[in-house]
Amino acid sequence: MKIAENKKSDAGTAQRLRFPTRTALLLYILEGSKRFFVLGVLCSMLVSFFDLVNPRIIGYTVDSVLGEEESSLPSFVLVALERIGGGTFFRTHLWLISLCVILVALLAALFRFLLHVFLAVGVEKMLKHMRDNVFGHILHLPFAWHARNHTGDIIQRCTSDVETIRNFLSEQLISLFRIGLLVALALYFMIGIDPVLALAAAAFIPVIVGYSVFFHNRIASSFLHADEEEGKLSAIAQENLTGVRVVRAFGREVYEKERFERQNHDYTQLWINLMRLLSAFWASGDLISGLQLLTVMLLGAHLAVHGSLTAGEYISFVFYNALLSWPVRELGRIISDMSKAGVSIDRIAYILNAEPEREEPDATEPDLNGDIVFSHVNYRYEGTNAEVLDDVSFTVHAGETIGILGGTGSGKSTLMYLLDKLYELPPENGSISIGGVDIRRIRTSYLRSKIGMVLQEPFLFSRTLEENISITRGEMGKDERRIMVRRAAGIASLDRAVKRFAHGYATPVGERGVTLSGGQKQRTAIAQMLVKDPPIMIFDDSLSAVDAQTDARIRQGLKENLAQSTVILIAHRITTLMQADRIIVLDRGRIAEEGTHEELIEKGGLYQKIYELQRQQSE
Ligand SMILES: Nc1ncnc2c1ncn2[C@@H]1O[C@H](COP(=O)(O)OP(=O)(O)OP(=O)(O)O)[C@@H](O)[C@H]1O
Ligand SMILES: [Mg+2]
Repeated sequence: MKIAENKKSDAGTAQRLRFPTRTALLLYILEGSKRFFVLGVLCSMLVSFFDLVNPRIIGYTVDSVLGEEESSLPSFVLVALERIGGGTFFRTHLWLISLCVILVALLAALFRFLLHVFLAVGVEKMLKHMRDNVFGHILHLPFAWHARNHTGDIIQRCTSDVETIRNFLSEQLISLFRIGLLVALALYFMIGIDPVLALAAAAFIPVIVGYSVFFHNRIASSFLHADEEEGKLSAIAQENLTGVRVVRAFGREVYEKERFERQNHDYTQLWINLMRLLSAFWASGDLISGLQLLTVMLLGAHLAVHGSLTAGEYISFVFYNALLSWPVRELGRIISDMSKAGVSIDRIAYILNAEPEREEPDATEPDLNGDIVFSHVNYRYEGTNAEVLDDVSFTVHAGETIGILGGTGSGKSTLMYLLDKLYELPPENGSISIGGVDIRRIRTSYLRSKIGMVLQEPFLFSRTLEENISITRGEMGKDERRIMVRRAAGIASLDRAVKRFAHGYATPVGERGVTLSGGQKQRTAIAQMLVKDPPIMIFDDSLSAVDAQTDARIRQGLKENLAQSTVILIAHRITTLMQADRIIVLDRGRIAEEGTHEELIEKGGLYQKIYELQRQQSE
């Protein structure tokens, strides 16, 4: 079956999907665990076979051992039985029959056990493979993809959808094989007993299965809807957990609670409706099964009375019919769950089919100590119609410190995202180059390893301060790490704050660094970048949360230690960037002015106005 259209996929991009069909995705998921599932299927077939043997033994016992009738067992079995003495022999050795029944039951139990063992191993291996791959893939998806999708929804896809697929593979698919074989074998035996009666019993099977297929196809869209509503519910919960401080600070608890309750109500209602439909289905299914049972019993009794069916055959037949009735009904449930699995597979495919960050085929790793040139850069975010950057051109010379000043939303961060290739600059929208090489041609991972960016909103992991600061560096010795972290923290003016922590650099900075103040977080982020020591450093409004004194101290420290690096300093406070070699003033996505602090003051334009305003405020 084809993967359902990705609703949120990039408009108009006719990219080749990695998993165009559900089967392709399933085969990928099963990589490394396929053999366990194959063994599971084999065992389940053997279970079905042994389950069907005992009714025949009982039938034979009734007819040929207890009675004197000819049994309708397959002829090769009858020949073998006659050779050891037939009914007369068993009449004196009844214990042999009991032994056979027990043996068959034991064999069925053994294969049931093996079936579960193989399945358990296969499922766990499959789950690990799937989790690793989905998570790994998500980490490589572009920034724009993450901006477009709710974290809660992605997490839901990674948990409950993965669980649905697990059920599908470990239970439904195996059951499908088992039931298929059971039906085939039982019908074969039933035809052997009495073709007419078998036909009557079998006539109901397509009706029962067809009815459930029809029904479940109709409710597939309801399941999709329910899944989406569940995703929305998770998203609300997740947002409120991450934004708990905002919720508290603005007293939004009641509002958020009501929002959650509304969504929860809609979601619950959906399930209630779905369950109502399902109940109707099960009840009507019961009716059809009952009818089938009645037909078989009556017709069978009629044939037995008129002599074309022996008592043993009648008993075997009713046994088989009873054995079939449950699995055939079960087929409906399986198909129902399979429609859910289809939806879940599509939802996982939505993630796995999303294209990871693209790399030019001939990506290079040039020396990045050259000039950074922005040339006629225009940019607008996907799904918006406002130009964020409008024909922006400027050069940052190697080793220079450049300041970028501009109001909120003027596009400063966007410029830096584009430089770091967090967002892709379309070819027709100008270019950015470093040392004469267009960044589109530079290997992304290499480029990012050479650009240190202190993001406007620093994020700290739930690890110790030392681990957080050294996160930008790969493996290194304990002592080396200690020294580097302390040196960086010193330059970033973080050391004084750390002295006050009981555990120093071993202080765990909880989820999102709750234990750190805004300014401390910013300084941790600066230290992080200093440990990385890249040739190009970007400070995106990284000193906004520290006081003017600390700001000056950090700038002095950076100046002394970063003489070699190219530095881009973004700020709202003129004092933060007035000592830069050059300052660019950005106004609503356009470059308004450019020059040194003195030149810009002289000019008496926007910069001078802002400067005057800030000077008056500070006085
Ligand atoms: N992912 C996005 N999708 C759509 N629009 C965006 C996205 N990110 C930013 N924008 C918009 O782009 C414009 C420029 O944003 P940007 O973050 O570059 O501004 P900024 O100059 O860094 O502002 P600030 O000083 O407040 O940090 C804003 O109007 C913003 O709403
Ligand atoms: Mg910004």
